[in-house]
Amino acid sequence: MKEKHITLGEFIIDKQTDFQYSSGELSKLINSIRLAAKVVNYEVNKAGLVDILGATNTVNVQGEQQQKLDAYANEVFMQALINREIVCGIASEEDDNYITIKGKNNDNNNKYVVLMDPLDGSSNIDVNVSVGTIFSIYRRVTPTGTPVQEIDFLQKGSQQVAAGYVVYGTSTMLVYTTGYGVNGFTLNPAIGTFYLSHPNMQYPKDGVIYSINEGNYVHFPQGVKDYLKYCQKEEGDRPYTSRYIGSLVSDFHRNMIKGGIYIYPTSTKAPKGKLRLLYEANPMAYIAEQAKGAASDGYRRIMDIQPTSLHQRVPFFCGSKNMVKKANEFMGQYPDDANY
Ligand code: AHG
Ligand code: MN
Ligand code: MN
Repeated sequence: MKEKHITLGEFIIDKQTDFQYSSGELSKLINSIRLAAKVVNYEVNKAGLVDILGATNTVNVQGEQQQKLDAYANEVFMQALINREIVCGIASEEDDNYITIKGKNNDNNNKYVVLMDPLDGSSNIDVNVSVGTIFSIYRRVTPTGTPVQEIDFLQKGSQQVAAGYVVYGTSTMLVYTTGYGVNGFTLNPAIGTFYLSHPNMQYPKDGVIYSINEGNYVHFPQGVKDYLKYCQKEEGDRPYTSRYIGSLVSDFHRNMIKGGIYIYPTSTKAPKGKLRLLYEANPMAYIAEQAKGAASDGYRRIMDIQPTSLHQRVPFFCGSKNMVKKANEFMGQYPDDANY
């Protein structure tokens, strides 16, 4: 019998009733992300041609100069989200401040805020290595009808209503959760349709991959150094395998499928870590937990941290449940390092 292939569009409609709030709104929101992902995918895929095309055509059809891809991705996602009358504010890695979005009649009635890293792993663009987009969605906490405020963005990760990422890789995939597990959709570029390819994604409970920028070893806190020595020790299923792409989205995606841990710790060079709590760590933590994995700062659950500013950084340990637990045990030997 021929199997039925479910598209992302169908899936969104199917799952609408699972959502605890007015379902149509979140569906529209995910739909606009789906659209933006396709547009950015198209651009990412021809990034290598920019120099060639640019020689004769440095100005695009709108008469704008060619932009860097991260600024471009930012604009595409912004526009897609603004047009739907759902979102009242967006915070992005690319903008210092959040932007306010008005509703239908110039009102403040839209209910959701979106936080995003429009292009993650941007240093990999020039070398044809996978990059991604990360997004995180909350209901506003201030009353509708009033302008969105910073506190609408500074919510704990545990308050997220949806989160996801797009990985622009050998295939382009959109992976997201609304709190009922994690599902992955692969883009068929020939017809521009995402199909459900990875239903109910789950981390293996244990894994054998560790992903960290080990070049910074001398700058790491002792707990991380100890854990790395543990990973490298010959015993049982160890030494583990080391894999590090340098695109959080891609490293995360591989580890979720194969089993592994991703670590971006504090270091003497980056005393609070490098990754951003609101639009990198929190959405990935939500997806990780929904996929039966875990995410911590080495000491506490990421999604329990009360944010204090839009672009704040956080150390990040994320992956298979037992691996994160083990790493936390090593960190716990140095309780002073919890005060970063
Ligand atoms: P971005 O491209 O959005 O600035 O993020 C890059 C991040 C993350 O994707 C990656 O895992 C990490 O930076 C790599 O940092 P190092 O080069 O320091 O390892
Ligand atoms: Mn990033
Ligand atoms: Mn980025």
